[in-house]
Amino acid sequence: MEIVPSILSADFTRLGEQVRQVADAGANRIQVDVMDGRFVPNITVGPLVVAAVRRATSLPIEAHLMIIEPERYLQDFATAGADLLIVHQEASPHLHRTIAQIKRLGKHAGVAINPATPLAMIQEVLDLADLFLIMTVDPGFGGQGFIASMLSKVERLRAMLDGRGLRTDIEVDGGIHGETAPQAIHAGANVLVAGSAIYDDPAGPAAALAKLRAAALSGAAG
Ligand code: DX5
Repeated sequence: MEIVPSILSADFTRLGEQVRQVADAGANRIQVDVMDGRFVPNITVGPLVVAAVRRATSLPIEAHLMIIEPERYLQDFATAGADLLIVHQEASPHLHRTIAQIKRLGKHAGVAINPATPLAMIQEVLDLADLFLIMTVDPGFGGQGFIASMLSKVERLRAMLDGRGLRTDIEVDGGIHGETAPQAIHAGANVLVAGSAIYDDPAGPAAALAKLRAAALSGAAG
């Protein structure tokens, strides 16, 4: 089970410190939320910030590309230092070509789907992606409410992968905290992204990450 802090809720006036805090507290990798104001109604950061995070930690970095035409920017994010490039199925009409392009760059390929997107939309690439990201909020902002009906979607995707003998990672992102983390793990997710649960906790990101991991493990045991 892996925990991936999203820097979306970090304090950008001290981003390097905030990355090191979670790295030192046992984060498995760092997520950079890339938003273009087109695919989602928000604009955040690009390859420049991935490169800055790259200088701050040796942890793997995943770039969650909430952008249209992600295939145009894969090289830029790979060059900036991302290890895992996650594209949205909804923005990638030529998904076989896009996944192959990511792998030619020597990176891991993730495919994300929004809450209303059915699993059927990724059915033809189940054996190609290294990770599937089941969004548990409509993307665009941190601190949103977890869409509980996504738990069934996680269960069904895990069953689809198991049926094909695939051990592919299932990542969930959006509204992941002490209560929803064990539910997601119990449903079959094995990678948890959390932004506000980690960076908005008054106890600080290191303590928040430890609390989240403990809560998540209770779901694995349950
Ligand atoms: C899309 C973003 C967020 C972020 C995590 O909205 O991808 O989901 O990573 O946000 P929290 O953990 O604050 O819900």
